[in-house]
Amino acid sequence: MSWITKTFSSSIGRKVIVAITGLFLCTFLVVHLVGNLQLFKDDGGLAFNTYSHFMSTNGLIRVAEIILVAGFGFHIYETIVLTRRNQTARSSKYVVDHIEQNSPWRSRNMGLLGSIILVFLVIHLYNFYWRFHYGEVGLDAGGNKDLYAIVAESFKVWWYVALYVAAQAALCFHLLHGFASGFQTLGLTHRKYTPLIQNVGYAFSILVCAGFAAMPLYFFFFK
Ligand code: HEM
Repeated sequence: MSWITKTFSSSIGRKVIVAITGLFLCTFLVVHLVGNLQLFKDDGGLAFNTYSHFMSTNGLIRVAEIILVAGFGFHIYETIVLTRRNQTARSSKYVVDHIEQNSPWRSRNMGLLGSIILVFLVIHLYNFYWRFHYGEVGLDAGGNKDLYAIVAESFKVWWYVALYVAAQAALCFHLLHGFASGFQTLGLTHRKYTPLIQNVGYAFSILVCAGFAAMPLYFFFFK
């Protein structure tokens, strides 16, 4: 086994992969949120559809999409392997630890929160990504595929809006732990800067998830 294979199949190596991919996915969330803010423009979706057309036809963005899929894939796969290892280690341990008293609920339920996000992602990708790329979509006044109409129509359904808001709550809790934890795994800890990273992580999680949750609520109540 080469040292690279050895390093990345050790528990710490796998944790590093989870941290790097997790922080990379955070950057995707920012780009996705900023792009989607165009949904709030009162132009019947022209700006949003132009943006979506650019994103789906630009070569560099297509390459970024492959990296994104790999990022999600590694993040999920390595987490499953680590969770299984931890479960095996814990089942052979006989001392009682007080993990419940030492860490918040979100930190002990990252797997559950991640699974909720994954279910959301499958529904989300089918409804928007798949229909946009492979379904029948009308054209807007500018001649672009009218993805805005699909988004607007979806967010008129109350349970769909509820699903989105619930998924953003799960994402928020996942990030509240994951953001700072990622930095810690990479060894980026410092007496002075760790509290700052922690606070930036809190602000990031709340702002990003509130921004995403605002979209279905906006269409449901104001459109
Ligand atoms: C209410 C909030 C959201 C809206 C309105 C929204 C909207 C969209 C739309 C319209 C697409 C298709 C765009 C295209 O194919 O060019 C898309 C794709 C995608 N979304 Fe979302 N999204 C939201 C939240 C999220 C969240 C929270 C995540 C991740 C946890 C996410 C992950 C993705 C991924 C991975 C893709 C496929 C990659 C891409 O096309 O860029 N989305 N989203």
